[in-house]
Amino acid sequence: MAPKKPIHRVELPIFQFNKLKITSPKRDKRSQTGWESFFPYYAGYPEGFVKDLLQSAKLSLDSTILDPWNGSGTSTFVASRLGHRAVGLDINPVMVVIARARMLPQSEAGSLLPLALTLTAQRCRPKVGTPDDPLGEWFAPATATAIRQIEVAIRESTVGDVTPLDGGANVGRISGLTATLYLGLFAACRSLSRMLRSTNPTWMRRPKSEALKTNVSSADVVSAFIDNVSAMAAELAASQQAAVPTPRWTIDVADSTTAKLTPDSVDFVVTSPPYCTRIDYTAATSIELAILAPLLLEDRAELSRNMIGSIRVPVKTISQSAEWGGICNGFLDRVRTHPSKASATYYYRTHLDYFEKLNKSLGRISSALRPGGIACMVVQDSYYKNIHNDLPSIVAEMCCHHSLKLGRREDFRLSRSMVRVNRHTRIYGRPSEPTEAVLCFEKVS
Ligand SMILES: C[S@@+](CC[C@H](N)C(=O)[O-])C[C@H]1O[C@@H](n2cnc3c(N)ncnc32)[C@H](O)[C@@H]1O
Repeated sequence: MAPKKPIHRVELPIFQFNKLKITSPKRDKRSQTGWESFFPYYAGYPEGFVKDLLQSAKLSLDSTILDPWNGSGTSTFVASRLGHRAVGLDINPVMVVIARARMLPQSEAGSLLPLALTLTAQRCRPKVGTPDDPLGEWFAPATATAIRQIEVAIRESTVGDVTPLDGGANVGRISGLTATLYLGLFAACRSLSRMLRSTNPTWMRRPKSEALKTNVSSADVVSAFIDNVSAMAAELAASQQAAVPTPRWTIDVADSTTAKLTPDSVDFVVTSPPYCTRIDYTAATSIELAILAPLLLEDRAELSRNMIGSIRVPVKTISQSAEWGGICNGFLDRVRTHPSKASATYYYRTHLDYFEKLNKSLGRISSALRPGGIACMVVQDSYYKNIHNDLPSIVAEMCCHHSLKLGRREDFRLSRSMVRVNRHTRIYGRPSEPTEAVLCFEKVS
């Protein structure tokens, strides 16, 4: 009998990871000026970080770049400016509005202020404030009504008559111009409610009485809105942003654990997963979510529950899984057996929720990547009490189960972090500077 011919598997070309230019993912103060200062939300990497990565990867122009946790849209903005197709997803509709506003081309700068002036002049409509308007949580009734009048004017003139749609589908339809006007209103409300902000950038104080609510006149609300739109228009006019044809990018509200992504459709992923630091990121955007409430069906509690890193105890029972890897399971065992109050209950369960959602999302990301495609993730470690949560190593292990092979890791020490913001964490004597790791994977078949 003739010997069997050896079966030759076609090996994928191995990506040369050393050609990638990996610069610090830490956002410096300089990058929070100009246009970017209008979305000073915690946790974003600088544009230069994404630009260096994508340019050094030498991708063809028809490549598709995905960020499944797109936040303020740094990845989608840079990828589309470099001429690539960009796909951005985020569960938080506020972040989707911000990321869509960021795509507004410089050529539209001149339309912003006239449009804002027209909208505010048209506002003499019947009162639109209602007692159950969520804005009433922070603003006195007349102030909440003035904000809502501007919101209705933006919505009616640019989005049209809408009914609240599930999953933020309305938000995924709004134009860059509308998104920018909403951003102007977000910025106005942020500046008007300054007194309610705490030192923690992710937290908004809730006024304990009517007297503590922000109470300014309708004229003050209008002028805060106009001032912000006019400053945004000036920054945009001064920027070098060329127009990017809409079909080259999509930015939508989607949950990364369930997102329907076409298999093998993505060439490169650049992203940063939500932190595992028990911070309710919906709290940081609670006023913005109240502004967008008429467009949304989902309420804030539901959004907060669905987020990766939710501080809410999951409704269903979740069990540890071998698929999450030894480092993750070892960490979870240490959390469960920690002697401090609620470690075995609340903290253990919220950590289970985090890792289950993270693992599901990594599976979705991997299936969207084509074989040979690259995924670069910025991942920050943290501590639970005195237990090190080595999230970069956990993600690296989890990715192994999803055909993502680690090709390179670069670590950066950070000085600005929630560890500094929350003084209670200091008593555990941990390092004050977390590590932010850049992990680069290749999809293997
Ligand atoms: C670390 S931030 C990303 C920051 C982003 N790289 C930037 O430059 O602004 C993580 C993002 O993940 C989003 N997120 C949390 N849970 C999610 C989920 N289940 N699906 C999609 N996005 C989610 C958060 O809303 C947040 O914007």
